[in-house]
Amino acid sequence: MSNIHVLDKHTAELIAAGEVVERPASVVKELIENSIDAGASFVCVEIENGGVSLIKITDDGSGILRDDVPTAFLRHATSKVRVQDDLESIGTLGFRGEALASVSAVARVELLTRTANEMAGTRYVIEGGEERLLEDTACPQGTTIIVRDLFYNVPARMKFLKKDVTEANAVAGVVDCIALSHPEVSFRLIRDGREELLTPGDGLLESCIYTVFGREFSKGMLSVDYRLEGIHIHGFVSKPAAGRGNRTMQHFFINGRYVKTRTAMAALEQAFKGVIMTGKFPSCVLHIDLPPQTVDVNVHPSKIEVRFVNERPVFDTVYYGVKSALQSSPVSVPIQIPETNEYVEKAPTARTTATQTAARTILSDSLHTIDRIRSAESKESVSKPGSVSFRDGGELPYNRPVTVPEIFFEDAMKSETSQDEAAVKAEVPITQEVT
Ligand SMILES: Nc1ncnc2c1ncn2[C@@H]1O[C@H](COP(=O)(O)OP(=O)(O)O)[C@@H](O)[C@H]1O
Ligand SMILES: [Mg+2]
Repeated sequence: MSNIHVLDKHTAELIAAGEVVERPASVVKELIENSIDAGASFVCVEIENGGVSLIKITDDGSGILRDDVPTAFLRHATSKVRVQDDLESIGTLGFRGEALASVSAVARVELLTRTANEMAGTRYVIEGGEERLLEDTACPQGTTIIVRDLFYNVPARMKFLKKDVTEANAVAGVVDCIALSHPEVSFRLIRDGREELLTPGDGLLESCIYTVFGREFSKGMLSVDYRLEGIHIHGFVSKPAAGRGNRTMQHFFINGRYVKTRTAMAALEQAFKGVIMTGKFPSCVLHIDLPPQTVDVNVHPSKIEVRFVNERPVFDTVYYGVKSALQSSPVSVPIQIPETNEYVEKAPTARTTATQTAARTILSDSLHTIDRIRSAESKESVSKPGSVSFRDGGELPYNRPVTVPEIFFEDAMKSETSQDEAAVKAEVPITQEVT
């Protein structure tokens, strides 16, 4: 008798869905990214009970053609990639064709959508991967997707969900990060019937930062705008005196995608070396735009980790961009925000800490997952000497080897100390004591 068999479709779907849909915040991330890819200028996110009982995303994007609707919910069905070569230069946030299939496998999903040229809209209901209804409906152009009872058919996953408030904070953190990644889109977050966030969508990063993080945070930021070797870095960094005790306020975006990048983080901190107190970390909201073929975003289903074909130019652009911002602005230049802006006055400013912590949790959870997978793949490579350990390693545990540009070692090479290169490489001090 044989032991090995191919899993039935339903079980295979549930397993695959687990990679993309970990918690309500990951559903929200995927669905908002779809709205951005659809060219929306306004995206509204509504959640109830931390997103477990309801997530509703409404956009004014392109909509989905009636004939395409059922296909959109099949795994590996996408309009964004056609052939292998397309993977070399991904210009959209999505491309794996997995989100709708995954979400509909573990929840009750209702979709309302209409494209510009269709007279009638489409209403589609799919529950636990089973199609229930496809009918005409009246709706404006764009897409509304309603996700109810997340994990209703996966009790094991349900057990891992945290308290509603924690899940809701994680959702808010994701909306914050994505709002910062696309200042030209207006984002609205309604949490249990209460509006929590409304970004102006005026295309100005500074007004978006103000709305998301509040007046105090935004008032002392320095503007960064720098180009090098086809890479453009723009955004804001904190002034040195505003150093923080951790890295929670470091936000990097590559081609409009929120990512965790050690290369950019290391370059940022290297640029602050000598001007920021030991143990303090700079904050930033930095957009890095570079040719899509020079960065691989297809590293993990969560698409939060990226690999650069060549790290050096990315490091250099961030380093010199930040350095010149620091040098050219010895006195901080406050972000200019019109005080009368209605959105700004209504802006929430108090939830920053909670949501950032939550966002950080979900993002670093993703990194943990990646690390676990890697660790299983290659036990050896995870903690061997040569990996970089950051001083606040507890903040962002992430101990697999990375390639660190030589610029880190320049000072060490020049110094008279007897440290050999291996020892230096084993622990790269990102923040140096101010002497
Ligand atoms: N909000 C939306 N507006 C327009 N089209 C959408 C929207 N959400 C999903 N789609 C369509 O459904 C397809 C499948 O979505 P998804 O499963 O998230 O995969 P991916 O985003 O990787 O292509 C997308 O390629 C897109 O064509
Ligand atoms: Mg998608």
